Amino acid sequence: MAVKTCLMVGGGGMAGGWINRMTQKFGDRIKIIGLVDVNQDVLDRQAQALGLSKDQLFTSHEDAVSAVKADFCGVATPPPFHALATVAALEAGMPVISEKPIADTLDAAKDMVRAAQKTDLPCAIIQNYRYARNKQELVRIRNEGRLGRLQHIVGRYACDYREFESWGKAWRHTMEFGLLFEGSVHHFDMLRFLSGGDPDTLMGFGWNPEWSSFDHHSSGMYLVNMDNGTHTFYEGNSSAAGITNCWHREHYRAEFEEGTVEIAEGATVTIHRVGEEPEVYEAPEIEWEGHDHLFDEFLNWLDGGPPSETRIEKNIISYAMVIAAMETTLDGQPKKIADYISDLELKS
Ligand SMILES: NC(=O)c1ccc[n+]([C@@H]2O[C@H](COP(=O)([O-])OP(=O)(O)OC[C@H]3O[C@@H](n4cnc5c(N)ncnc54)[C@H](O)[C@@H]3O)[C@@H](O)[C@H]2O)c1
Repeated sequence: MAVKTCLMVGGGGMAGGWINRMTQKFGDRIKIIGLVDVNQDVLDRQAQALGLSKDQLFTSHEDAVSAVKADFCGVATPPPFHALATVAALEAGMPVISEKPIADTLDAAKDMVRAAQKTDLPCAIIQNYRYARNKQELVRIRNEGRLGRLQHIVGRYACDYREFESWGKAWRHTMEFGLLFEGSVHHFDMLRFLSGGDPDTLMGFGWNPEWSSFDHHSSGMYLVNMDNGTHTFYEGNSSAAGITNCWHREHYRAEFEEGTVEIAEGATVTIHRVGEEPEVYEAPEIEWEGHDHLFDEFLNWLDGGPPSETRIEKNIISYAMVIAAMETTLDGQPKKIADYISDLELKS
């Protein structure tokens, strides 16, 4: 496998994490040859770390995509900037791997889907939480029918972000529907992954407790029925003060025909059967976890391997759940997920 060159859009925050991963774990497969960031200090710091010269540094993606011809482009800026950079990179002939959520609006997300379809280039979206030992094990239990058929799944996310800027950046506290776009997009995607179904109808409520550090709703509860007959329920709370199930510790409870599976922290899986002691064990190791899995999968795709499971044409469904949750919160009406994406021609 030849080393793939990368134009990286974003250099600090999560993008800084990407760069560390790319250089430390994927140094033999990825070489960053161009970097874009609106913050000059970030550019200077990363230029030194990556050994990039001035002509490889950019403050705008437009200049970067016309100057740098890389094997792919990585996008890890805040959501409002994903679509412009992604579409420009695809149109310049570069496959893209981008952070979640796909974009800041449904129209922008669809622009990205259409650009990927028009150019026929790989475009993958990060959904790192799928690639954790306990999540993979729950899916195996379902697929192998170890506890019979699945009835429903309850997912719970609860972080104590009652202090302003405790969720990383100020923009997460001031944006509209921060819970849904920054948080729940992961959990909606997880409910699809764990249930093995795609969403049919979504309904629910969102609110902002008076003591919230957010300008907009920090909390919500949503119900979704899936196209494989299963049902899911989600509790999201960024103003949690008691029992927390924050990142990597979200609690999922899957109700099967012959027992209940509970997962939360680490690799522990607990199976409950009526009248029996709970069975508690550690899920098997997996080769790549989180972002590493997605990078490996994407690089393999570029080399002719199978497309990423969370390619944009599939992940748009998780994103549509966010838009549906936003709209049901506003008007109190159930939303058909298909209505949000019916103008796209999606390959399965
Ligand atoms: N998958 C995960 O677990 C996970 C976790 C955290 C964040 N994220 C995602 O990562 C993305 C970035 O979030 P963050 O907290 O790192 O944001 P951030 O505000 O720290 O920005 C990241 C970098 O992008 C730069 N930047 C901002 N606007 C830019 C633009 N227009 N062009 C180029 N560079 C620009 C910033 O200067 C910064 O260096 C978001 O989409 C977020 O949802 C994902």
